[in-house]
Amino acid sequence: MLRDPDFRRFEVLPITGALGAEIRGVDLGAHPDDATFEDVRRALHRYHVLAVREQKLTTEAYHQVARRFGPFSGNPVHGPMPGYDDIVEFIREPDDTGKVIGEEWHMDLAWMAKPPGITMLYGHEVPPVGGDTCFASLEQVYKSLSPGMRRMLASHTAVHSGKGVYEINAAQKRLALRPDARKGDDVEVEHPVICAHPVTGKPYVFISSVLNRFKGMTEAETKPIVDYLMGVAIRPEFTCRVRWQQGTLTMWNNPVVLHTAINDYSGYRRVTYRTTVEGWVPVAAPRELVASQAA
Ligand SMILES: [Fe+2]
Repeated sequence: MLRDPDFRRFEVLPITGALGAEIRGVDLGAHPDDATFEDVRRALHRYHVLAVREQKLTTEAYHQVARRFGPFSGNPVHGPMPGYDDIVEFIREPDDTGKVIGEEWHMDLAWMAKPPGITMLYGHEVPPVGGDTCFASLEQVYKSLSPGMRRMLASHTAVHSGKGVYEINAAQKRLALRPDARKGDDVEVEHPVICAHPVTGKPYVFISSVLNRFKGMTEAETKPIVDYLMGVAIRPEFTCRVRWQQGTLTMWNNPVVLHTAINDYSGYRRVTYRTTVEGWVPVAAPRELVASQAA
């Protein structure tokens, strides 16, 4: 198994050639120093998805670990746990039926002006098999596109809409929602389609399941283009799959990946805790960058 030699404080084991890494040999709940957290952040920027294994986090410890990465992003949809405004509990009981939350490929809260920069999910109780989470790299999507397609997309701004998000979440009977969660139905926000990551500078294609239309175009005109990009994003060679274990803390660079929950663990209980870290207002990739890489 490949171990990334650039990390000495803990093991970084890439999951696929596209994105994702397992982290072993660090106890984030034991108040590691800033340099350790800085290395986790560095690994996150390199791999975009990290499955940090064998953590033992109480709710308080989880809260403290998350806040070492930055302030809470806010969450206009889900009701938090008592005592922790920044943590949401997701429970699936063995006899629950129907969809699991997050079953479609999506980005968390893409319809916020500042979508969460990092999403964290802690596996408190996970099935012995099933319930994996898959991730797709939007950087890899950009890399795969032709110069003409890159230029065309860079000329567009996308409208992402919160319409329907309440309904999807309200269908989950065990999920607490904020009393004003329905307000999301009226929210639309504009984001560039070709963005640059604020730390790495690398371009990525900002698509999401709530991308309603390109500005100045109809939904019908936009849909085939977004469907194409979605199809590229979820090609197996651009994805990774995290298999959960009890105590796995998975975190991802939310705006540069898509993710989906796998609904294949009927008969098992699954309890996870989510929090999110404040992100950035998505920035369009500089035209010169798109042009130069398109050359
Ligand atoms: Fe999600």
